[in-house]
Amino acid sequence: MMEPCDVLGAMTGVFAVVCCWLSAVFPTHLSPVMAASVNMTRQDVLEILIVNSSTYNARIAPDYEQDHATTVDVQIYVLSIDTVNEQSMDYSLHIYLRQRWVDPRLQFMNYSRAVWLELDAKLMSKVWVPDTFFRNEKKGEFHIVTVPNRLMHLYRNGTIYYSMRLSVLLSCHMKLQKYPLDVQKCPILIASYGYTTENIIYRWIDHKPIDYQDNLQLSQYTLVGESLDNCTKTYKETGSFSCVRADFILKRDVGFYIIQVYVPSVLIVILSWVSFWLDIEAIPARISLGVLTVLTMTTQSSGARSSLPRVSYVKAIDVWMATCLFFVFASLLEFAYINVLARRRMPYQCFGTPESMETSPGANGSHHSRTDGDRTEKHRLARQNSQAVRFYGKSGARYCDRMARFVFPLAFVMFNMTYWLIYVFVEFD
Ligand SMILES: *[C@@H]1O[C@H](CO)[C@@H](O)[C@H](O)[C@H]1NC(C)=O
Ligand SMILES: *[C@@H]1O[C@H](CO)[C@@H](O)[C@H](O)[C@H]1NC(C)=O
Ligand SMILES: *[C@@H]1O[C@H](CO)[C@@H](O)[C@H](O)[C@H]1NC(C)=O
Ligand SMILES: *[C@@H]1O[C@H](CO)[C@@H](O)[C@H](O)[C@H]1NC(C)=O
Repeated sequence: MMEPCDVLGAMTGVFAVVCCWLSAVFPTHLSPVMAASVNMTRQDVLEILIVNSSTYNARIAPDYEQDHATTVDVQIYVLSIDTVNEQSMDYSLHIYLRQRWVDPRLQFMNYSRAVWLELDAKLMSKVWVPDTFFRNEKKGEFHIVTVPNRLMHLYRNGTIYYSMRLSVLLSCHMKLQKYPLDVQKCPILIASYGYTTENIIYRWIDHKPIDYQDNLQLSQYTLVGESLDNCTKTYKETGSFSCVRADFILKRDVGFYIIQVYVPSVLIVILSWVSFWLDIEAIPARISLGVLTVLTMTTQSSGARSSLPRVSYVKAIDVWMATCLFFVFASLLEFAYINVLARRRMPYQCFGTPESMETSPGANGSHHSRTDGDRTEKHRLARQNSQAVRFYGKSGARYCDRMARFVFPLAFVMFNMTYWLIYVFVEFD
């Protein structure tokens, strides 16, 4: 048995539904009051919502009274990545920063049928926006020609889409151990300055959080991709602040360094070997060749490192330059060494002793009862005796030069193999 009240309630409900349906189908004829409000002009909607509103206050965050935070979805559209500076450890970005959040106070589905409303720069200043900043920013600027480059769209359900054009210089701590064969990760950290996680939470949007202009070109790097992260941080004094982070993965283009650094230094090292083909009597030629290559190598090495910060660790370029310098210096020393020996009336060795010499029997025969000291002394004499035939005077020096023609290039090729294998394939921390 239904109470009269219930029947009345049910009938009112049915009437309301019919009314709503009718007003949707024939808005102007049957429901003038509702139609008038739904068909308000866009200008009036903005007036009512923002300017004349007694409830909206741009100084208060949207969910200030609620127990949940306002979620701000962030997207970055990269227009260009301009300079990446190793010396000052920073890079500059030219971006559109896009933010999207819901402000329930600005819903207008009851006032207008428009899908969105575009707000003017002067009206934007009357709307609450999150106090976003870049945690690793060194310098930044808005673009204000001819008016501030900002955009704001207001959707029916209170979603606000806010975009602005920015040029920022961001710090990027680089690890240069593998320079110039390195890959750098340069971050951008977006956080709220004043609102803790109670009021604002940042999130990357789902679709293409980092988007790039089609023909994005970097001068010295190739953009490999990006990685996203959450950098929410809690400070003891002020509380927990939401933050999102993206790392641009930049791979250095090694072509420039191959042409400017590696090829010239290889040529200088090869040039220093020319000395081994010159006669031992050509002292001025060999000395000037040696000194010239050493000096050129020194200049090369300081030139290659001039644009780098004075970090205390060893970089790949240091290893390369130091080894090349060592090679040209060694070929200069080789000449000095054999030049001295050639003038001595004594037998000598070039580059250590071949293995077979160690076991050659001495003149006196060996006795097992001898002490170790005696034995090594005997071996030394034996070596000298057997080498005396070859390594003596100028012909011996020429023989040393002939050996150097193979030893030096072989050692350099081995160094190259090790160097490139390690620096190209091994990951450093
Ligand atoms: C807004 O307020 C002004 C002055 O108080 C008034 O003239 C105007 O009609 C109001 N606008 C709307 C859309 O109510
Ligand atoms: C829109 O109108 C409906 C029904 O009249 C009401 O329940 C709702 O709260 C209104 N929404 C806004 C944002 O005023
Ligand atoms: C609000 O409307 C926009 C555009 O129609 C839509 O993309 C978005 O998902 C809506 N948001 C909510 C919370 O309903
Ligand atoms: C980020 O991490 C914090 C805790 O460290 C967590 O509370 C928060 O929900 C995370 N944010 C996102 C967007 O996942």
